[in-house]
Amino acid sequence: MTSISHVNANVLQAAQERIQQDLTTALDAFDLPEPLKSAVYHTVMLGGKRVRPALCYAVASMEKNPNYAAARRAAVAVELIHCYSLAHDDLPCMDNDLLRRGQPTCHVAFGEDTALLAGDILQSMAFEVLGSRLFDQQNSVDASIVLRQMQILATASSKMVCGQVLDLQAEGKEIDQEQLENIHRNKTGALIQAALMMGAVTLFSGMDQAIPHLRQFGQRIGLAFQVQDDILDIISSTETLGKTAGKDQQVQKSTYPALMGLDAAQNYAKNLHDQALASLDYFGDAAIELQQIVQFLLSRKS
Ligand code: IPE
Ligand code: IPE
Ligand code: MG
Ligand code: MG
Ligand code: MG
Repeated sequence: MTSISHVNANVLQAAQERIQQDLTTALDAFDLPEPLKSAVYHTVMLGGKRVRPALCYAVASMEKNPNYAAARRAAVAVELIHCYSLAHDDLPCMDNDLLRRGQPTCHVAFGEDTALLAGDILQSMAFEVLGSRLFDQQNSVDASIVLRQMQILATASSKMVCGQVLDLQAEGKEIDQEQLENIHRNKTGALIQAALMMGAVTLFSGMDQAIPHLRQFGQRIGLAFQVQDDILDIISSTETLGKTAGKDQQVQKSTYPALMGLDAAQNYAKNLHDQALASLDYFGDAAIELQQIVQFLLSRKS
């Protein structure tokens, strides 16, 4: 019998292979000057769990999908925005980090000016990809799907930036759980939700009953993801994380373990993952890939 961790690994691995190919195709279509080109490839191509693309594919695969090209573009676009957010998050004026995905951060490798501009261009590239005909075999771009995907991604990107501002403001401060939840939902949850919703619009209309169930799932798994990120900063190692462990405490970030203690934060993360799974009940067997991704996320070490 296949063990659950084996199944999980397969879902993620298949998504990682797909997105690695699609990101290469997407980036190769741009004509970028050096050192921007190297900084962009460094930021996008080297590692990363690719959770957001995996979520997008998992939703788009829930039904026989006539518009998988739109889901593939969306997966590329959300990963590009995520990579931009990481390059900027690591800058000295933000979290000031040296290590990302087991590599020197973008500004360490290429300088702050290039890292800033690499993030900037990744953001516009994401929207260019969404509006392109990339991966479309029959030139069958559905403009209404593309428009909705652009709206979803733009809104989520703005929320991410607002969350980042609140995160920086909360350093060294005591904030309550409601305020912390608001930070996490914006800086991290929003892009995760966008990955799901951009997949969903390739299948469902806005009025479809599936949408509120998926949205509730996204809210739960999006918050769970950042709570788990806060926990891993404490319990995991720099080597396993590929980023500097213990960093949040060093700079007095407002995190769930800082707010409620490590044990309570771990229980909370487990509850959120369980609640996320419960939101998938509506979909029955169609949600098997999403369920497997949730199992992976709860047990992840990096
Ligand atoms: C890290 O995201 C930043 C957060 C939003 C918590 P990931 O944990 O998805 O980072 P990669 O893409 O796997 O490197
Ligand atoms: C990052 O949160 C959120 C975004 C990049 C938008 P963190 O600052 O906790 O992410 P890591 O721990 O550096 O990956
Ligand atoms: Mg940060
Ligand atoms: Mg950071
Ligand atoms: Mg973190």
